[in-house]
Amino acid sequence: MKITIFGSGYVGLVTGACFAEVGNDVLCVDIDEEKISRLKKGEIPIYEPGLEDMVIENSREGRLKFTSDVAEGVAYGLFQFIAVGTPPDEDGSADLRHVLSVAESIGRHMDDYRIIIDKSTVPVGTADLVRDKVLSVLAERNVSIDFDVVSNPEFLKEGDAINDFMKPERIVVGVDNPRTKELLRTLYGPFNRSHERFIAMDIRSAELTKYAANAMLATKISFMNEIANIAERVGADVEAVRRGIGSDSRIGFPFIYPGVGYGGSCFPKDVQALERTARKFGYDSRILQAVEAVNHDQKLSLVDKMRDHFKGDLKGKTIAIWGLAFKPNTDDMREAPSREIIEALWSEGAKVRAYDPVAIDEARRIYGERDDLELLEHPDETLKGADALAVVTEWMVFRSPDFDVMKSELTSPVIFDGRNIYNPDMMEQLGFTYYSIGRLPRCNA
Ligand code: UDX
Repeated sequence: MKITIFGSGYVGLVTGACFAEVGNDVLCVDIDEEKISRLKKGEIPIYEPGLEDMVIENSREGRLKFTSDVAEGVAYGLFQFIAVGTPPDEDGSADLRHVLSVAESIGRHMDDYRIIIDKSTVPVGTADLVRDKVLSVLAERNVSIDFDVVSNPEFLKEGDAINDFMKPERIVVGVDNPRTKELLRTLYGPFNRSHERFIAMDIRSAELTKYAANAMLATKISFMNEIANIAERVGADVEAVRRGIGSDSRIGFPFIYPGVGYGGSCFPKDVQALERTARKFGYDSRILQAVEAVNHDQKLSLVDKMRDHFKGDLKGKTIAIWGLAFKPNTDDMREAPSREIIEALWSEGAKVRAYDPVAIDEARRIYGERDDLELLEHPDETLKGADALAVVTEWMVFRSPDFDVMKSELTSPVIFDGRNIYNPDMMEQLGFTYYSIGRLPRCNA
């Protein structure tokens, strides 16, 4: 089948590469010419395991092509995916400018039936706006051409997106007629094997499903972070509580790890956008507001612990930071807890020596050269002369470090573990002052 994907960012590229991988002909469109010329050379602008090989292989086979020519994109595919960004605007609502500009282009250039598919995470009601936009442009052109609009939200986790696309747990499509539903079912056939994963529903429900899924997961995390904060105060161990509640199959183990809060391009933005949508429709969502507020405070909880440890004064201290990406296996630092932590440390007069396996360049791009930030090539280098280590992202490589080196390099053996990756008893035996999230305070000096 012939597929056009507008937007060659994270979602668009993964979607395009995966559809090509199963034999479709895919044309990826982006108005950023520089990005397109790099993609044509097989240079991928983002870090996503497996994506580069998939793009190169499918481009070589001729199934995956790139263009910055929007008209060419509209002429190409029966399926027209909109996978452009929806950044939050000033009040946290999703900004639909890019989505509607693609809709306008489709209306402007189409001369035959097209299925327009919203892949970007968009507020409830956006499919109607897309339809209205296309209709108004067709009216301007004084033509009448049949088209359908579909909502097909993505559920891709950064770092595991190829797997999520190729072996989805569910394929959600919002449609308003049986013909489109069957066309979408056929398109997703290669990913819908072994048992039925295709869930068709009305368009608004599909739009809301995406937000509900992310808001539920964010809620689990904020809830667990609150339990961790309570555990610290009452002298309980959140790790034991996590095992205790996760074993209840109604609750389950995933997404109840306490830590320094959630980040990334989806949870923070989507929780806010859903809260704004609810408000717009006259509903005050106290849960969503609380989820966001708890997450904000949680990002700074490690700094609170540092301040307490250093008797209220972080001025002149140097803190080693392990992990800058919002989670392992990505270089994405959008809404990353590391940023709040680093910026809070700076505002209190501390310096930072940081390491991340892949996000160093991203950190350099965000912060540039500064006297109070050193970005280093090896985790041990961050420790030299630092007053404490803070673990902010749970990369595998941090799990079993050389604790002797750590002790000899740090000016005092203090660890603030924002991801609970070390064993408190072992840390005590090794002679560290060890702080973590919500675990028994016996090792905390
Ligand atoms: C998420 C959703 O999982 C995906 O389905 C959606 O389409 C986009 O948003 P992603 O942002 O890539 O994907 O990250 P995810 O792996 O879900 O983690 C989100 C954040 O939650 C991370 O900052 C992570 O550290 C944090 N997290 C996750 C916790 O703090 N505790 C947990 O138990 C799980």
